Amino acid sequence: MTGEQPLIEVRGLTKRFGGLTAVDGLDFEIRPGEVLGLIGPNGAGKSTTFNVISGTYQASAGSMRLDGEEILGLPPHRIAARGIMRTFQHNMPFEGMSVAENVMVGAQTTVRSTLGRILLGTAAARAEEQAIRARADELIDFVGLSEERDAEVTSLSFGQGRLLETARALAGEPRIILFDEPAAGLTPSECDRLGVIIRGIAERGIAVLLIEHDMRFLLPLADRVIVLNFGQKIADGTPDTIRTDPAVVDAYLGEAGGVGADA
Ligand SMILES: Nc1ncnc2c1ncn2[C@@H]1O[C@H](COP(=O)(O)OP(=O)(O)OP(=O)(O)O)[C@@H](O)[C@H]1O
Ligand SMILES: [Mg+2]
Repeated sequence: MTGEQPLIEVRGLTKRFGGLTAVDGLDFEIRPGEVLGLIGPNGAGKSTTFNVISGTYQASAGSMRLDGEEILGLPPHRIAARGIMRTFQHNMPFEGMSVAENVMVGAQTTVRSTLGRILLGTAAARAEEQAIRARADELIDFVGLSEERDAEVTSLSFGQGRLLETARALAGEPRIILFDEPAAGLTPSECDRLGVIIRGIAERGIAVLLIEHDMRFLLPLADRVIVLNFGQKIADGTPDTIRTDPAVVDAYLGEAGGVGADA
């Protein structure tokens, strides 16, 4: 994907909580179809970076341009409407609804019909609902949940719930998806499946920003990795250069015993 214009350019991103600077002048960019890993020891500022990018937290300083346009500081629903979707560290489905219904709700941000048009049952609104249904089915197939399509979400295993979260995020037609530790709690075979899905997402031209502690999962998947420590970027490079970068190895010493060590 080299040579392509950045989709998102982040400059000087800073988030302070009182006296603590959780994210400190972070610069990075991500291109369409790129898988960018975001790693660092516990408390390094990874989730805070996601919270600021997605508009959940207000940044203290900095800039975030999407297609060259400044969008830092927009409220979360407007950030999502620009195509920046996040998944959470914990699954949060709508209980009492089926897998398919959950994915259809994820598509709501792209729906043009007003409630009034839907209530009137106009042909346009019906056609739109058909399109959403077809799109939901396609995404359910893509993440491998076809057999669970009509199941109530509380009957899903934890790993299936993670796949549902992914389909829901895709239903919003994102240009970039932020994953916060998606492999946590998954079995090895579920991890393999998720890795294939994330690659497939990137192949659709969607950018993926991926926080992950499990280096065996992340390093083969990422095109590029940035490393945070105490809120600052200490390295930015390919998985191979990151693995042996002395500053990165230092940051991880005393934590997990080094990059790539078993968690
Ligand atoms: N809402 C908050 N209020 C105050 N401090 C916070 C808040 N959220 C995060 N922090 C602090 O900001 C720092 C960065 O936290 P963050 O959750 O971003 O780290 P992380 O890199 O995601 O860590 P982990 O790997 O443990 O998930 C930590 O010192 C944390 O205690
Ligand atoms: Mg975190």
